[in-house]
Amino acid sequence: MYVLKMYLEYLRYIIFSQKIHKLEPGFLMDFAKNCVYAKPDKKKYSAIEDTRKELLKNEKTIKVTDYGQGAKKVKKQKGSYPLEYNRKIKKIAKNSLKSQRECLFMANTTNYFKPSVILELGTSFGITTSYIADANPESEITTIEGCANTSEIAQNIFNSHGYNNIKLVNSDFDTALPEYIKNNPEINMGIIDGNHCKSAVLKYFDSLTKNISDDGFIIIDDIRWSLEMMEAWKIIKAHEKVTLSIDLFSMGITFFNKALKKEEVMLLF
Ligand SMILES: C[S@@+](CC[C@H](N)C(=O)[O-])C[C@H]1O[C@@H](n2cnc3c(N)ncnc32)[C@H](O)[C@@H]1O
Repeated sequence: MYVLKMYLEYLRYIIFSQKIHKLEPGFLMDFAKNCVYAKPDKKKYSAIEDTRKELLKNEKTIKVTDYGQGAKKVKKQKGSYPLEYNRKIKKIAKNSLKSQRECLFMANTTNYFKPSVILELGTSFGITTSYIADANPESEITTIEGCANTSEIAQNIFNSHGYNNIKLVNSDFDTALPEYIKNNPEINMGIIDGNHCKSAVLKYFDSLTKNISDDGFIIIDDIRWSLEMMEAWKIIKAHEKVTLSIDLFSMGITFFNKALKKEEVMLLF
């Protein structure tokens, strides 16, 4: 069922997604040009990509404490929460991290909007976090990761690259998010990239919308990870505070700017 739905979704995306040369001048066109299709200098991020390469070669096994859905390929014991399993670092790096192309999009977007306050749910080894920290060193980034061993690797990576605009919180989202929302009345950029379960993602999204600034935005990753995630994305787009929503197939971006009309757009990525 999921495979068939994905196939149909992809066809629909290819046919109906907007192409840059057909966009009218305005916010959407600027976003497409500066964030989706801009070609940043890859050399700027070569040190982070070297770190990714090292992770992809790392044969060491770590004990993962997983507060989310677990990787698709991991056998899950029913009833145990959080899930605990051993996994090679190279396997986590291969399956959990955003691709270089997606990371460059994240960096472009951070560089273009220059959000002062960024919250990321789901650090893993911090590759995406590193890109956005590099893209705008002025941004104050908080990233939350539930697994202690994964967090330790991410923290070492941040230290070795000298990112001092990242605060890593090792906690499950349910504990850390309410506290973060209480202490941060204005969030300019939110990233939801962990626990890809419909009810959880909707809950995190709803919490973030309470403090998202008028010119802020929330990026939801893996909107087609499962049938549940596809349903969650539909509900998120219809949320009363969301005006423009942009579907890049693997990720969705929601804007809250009241000056924008309520519109659902698919952009070829
Ligand atoms: C897809 S990975 C994040 C990838 C990362 N953003 C990147 O692109 O480099 C998701 C991470 O979220 C963490 N996670 C999932 N559910 C969580 C929860 N409820 N609380 C805390 N961390 C969670 C997992 O341990 C995992 O490392």
